[in-house]
Amino acid sequence: MKPVRVLTIAGSDSGGGAGIQADLKTITVLGGFGMSVVTALTAQNTLGVHGIHEVPPEFVAAQFDAVATDIGVDAAKTGMLANSEIIRVVAGKVREYGIEKLVVDPVMAAKGGMALIREEAKRILIAELIPLALVLTPNIPEAEVLSGMRIETLADMKEAARIIRNLGAGNVVVKGGHLAGDAVDLLYDGRDFREFRSPRIATEDTHGTGCTYSAAIATGLALGRDVAGAVAEAKLYINEALRHAWRLGGGHGPTNHLAPLFASGVVAAGNEHHAETGAAGKSAGRSHDREPNP
Ligand SMILES: Nc1ncnc2c1ncn2[C@@H]1O[C@H](COP(=O)(O)OP(=O)(O)OP(=O)(O)O)[C@@H](O)[C@H]1O
Ligand SMILES: [Mg+2]
Repeated sequence: MKPVRVLTIAGSDSGGGAGIQADLKTITVLGGFGMSVVTALTAQNTLGVHGIHEVPPEFVAAQFDAVATDIGVDAAKTGMLANSEIIRVVAGKVREYGIEKLVVDPVMAAKGGMALIREEAKRILIAELIPLALVLTPNIPEAEVLSGMRIETLADMKEAARIIRNLGAGNVVVKGGHLAGDAVDLLYDGRDFREFRSPRIATEDTHGTGCTYSAAIATGLALGRDVAGAVAEAKLYINEALRHAWRLGGGHGPTNHLAPLFASGVVAAGNEHHAETGAAGKSAGRSHDREPNP
């Protein structure tokens, strides 16, 4: 039996809730075979990012070549790409291996619009990588940077999606995680808008939502879903993962990638009990600012 092969190109999160770790868990639970190209190591936990160690661009290329020439790639996603050189290398390899099912999560800004990558890297991301994306998944601050407009309403999201799609991505999903009210994601394919809506879950344990979501979309594409189908399934998955988020660490706990397995009975019930009772405990004085995820 041959599985679908899904590649994540992103940063490592030592805390296990975001980045490469979140992606591989997501891909696995949703039925894909996960592979990774690590672009940076982060020393990170639920409280924040304590250090970043960037991988030399040639070694990013070496990882990419190793998996693409032997195992092959049915779909890929990009997350944190630490600098311009790495973005250039990744875009070159995507072209070289003809990867069409590419999800680009344009990790560049945190909640509140704080810039996470340098201007030069932003320019290269827009010029080289975004035009290769089948699906581009900016959050609200990233969509504001890419569109150059403020986004406060669903109408703003639509206008921004139109502007952003002109950068060359096939489909744009503006994620609504950072707005108030229902969590509404907006998909624009150049013709129609589709809304993916769910009630906002009242939780602080949101570490890694963006990574998980884009990895789920890539897995759906690898499994042969169309873009709207892959986004719909990813939305269901992130919703379950948030509903059962793990109460771990003193800050923003990770989402629960195993959530669908609880329902199926594959995961022992004791594990679920642990999640619901928060047995790991939380220290007081948690930060309410969400940290950027690689
Ligand atoms: N509190 C919530 N309740 C329900 N859905 C949510 C909530 N927060 C985020 N989501 C969903 O999670 C997905 C990721 O969106 P979000 O805007 O959080 O991405 P992000 O900011 O890139 O995440 P990250 O901080 O991990 O980079 C979207 O489908 C969004 O609708
Ligand atoms: Mg994000």
